[in-house]
Amino acid sequence: MRIANLVVDTEVLLAPMAAVTDLPFRTICEEHGVGLTITEFLSASALCAGAQKTVDKMTPSLNGRRFGVQIFGREPEALAQAAQMARDIGAALVDINMGCPAKRVVAGACGSALMKEPELAQELVRAVRRALPEQIPVTVKHRAGWDDRHLNAPEFACAMVEAGAAMITVHGRTRTQGFSGRSSLEIIKKVRQSVPSQVPVIGNGDVVSLADYQRMRQETGCDAVMIGRGALGNPWLFRDIRLWLAGQPLPGAPSPAERRAVFLRHVELMRQHTVEKRILHELRKAVAWYSKGMPGSAELRDNSRTPSDPEDLIAVTAQFFADHADRGGSATGRREPYSSATSSSAAIPRSFAPAPAALGSEPL
Ligand SMILES: Cc1cc2nc3c(=O)[nH]c(=O)nc-3n(C[C@H](O)[C@H](O)[C@H](O)COP(=O)(O)O)c2cc1C
Repeated sequence: MRIANLVVDTEVLLAPMAAVTDLPFRTICEEHGVGLTITEFLSASALCAGAQKTVDKMTPSLNGRRFGVQIFGREPEALAQAAQMARDIGAALVDINMGCPAKRVVAGACGSALMKEPELAQELVRAVRRALPEQIPVTVKHRAGWDDRHLNAPEFACAMVEAGAAMITVHGRTRTQGFSGRSSLEIIKKVRQSVPSQVPVIGNGDVVSLADYQRMRQETGCDAVMIGRGALGNPWLFRDIRLWLAGQPLPGAPSPAERRAVFLRHVELMRQHTVEKRILHELRKAVAWYSKGMPGSAELRDNSRTPSDPEDLIAVTAQFFADHADRGGSATGRREPYSSATSSSAAIPRSFAPAPAALGSEPL
């Protein structure tokens, strides 16, 4: 997939998620094959004011891997300046959030509230476009519309493209829905049909398995899929999508030993990149994510609230996975809730997928 001049070789992106997609989380996803990661949304005005907590969240990916920065606000100058800060740390793209439904964001007429002000939204895209060198695309992520009676995503997307957006991501829920109901494939399809074909449209919402990925691409015609909650504790989803796109066999659900190894890798990244006072909090989240669905995970989660020393929690969790491994792989005897939907991969044609040979640096 090509976003203006930026080539993304695997058509799956990590969704920006506040308090989730920090550097360790993004790195784990990158190491499992995601095509591109994006920081959580960062307030343009906080960045401009030099608010340290926000500035610290604008972190480049490790080892020179490309990454995007997402910003939000409603003042063109602030967004332009924030975009330049993203440029200065090496961002490969700058995404503008026009989809956040949170009350505090909407109260400031930012996030999804901008879908009610398409002209101002266009002005923001133009300001960011002007502030950046040509090789850094400006992109927009938005929702289906404000509510059921205002499903303006197709027109809104076109207006953003006209103002200079080089990629559109659509979460197929309205602002009013929040996270209830389902993400509409129909509205994503309409956006894909409305926006000029050279501008990629990314489908987003409720993709938690390879089968969901396939359905999203097939039913909407979208160019790539963005995955958020489905990646929590399941970076193997990116591995499976990458392998499937390349026409390679899937290795199956991760064993307890693999979970342990990735949990410990996540811990290692936290040790290197998370401020000490946040580590226990972040660790508890990781414990819940990686153990989800395994027998005893609820107890582990409850117990994870007790230790005040991160090392104790790491040791207990590593032992939890080791015990499961000793009992012989998938001790559940049932399908893991986040296991890859390997069985359905043969049923859905890979017609929208590039031929394996096309993967790599070729524009798709
Ligand atoms: C905890 C959390 C934080 C989120 N933070 C952001 C954010 O910072 N920026 C954004 O554009 N969307 C944010 N979202 C929305 C996701 O990017 C995504 O659009 C939504 O979760 C639907 O995709 P999913 O079903 O794959 O999770 C967040 C979602 C969650 C669950």
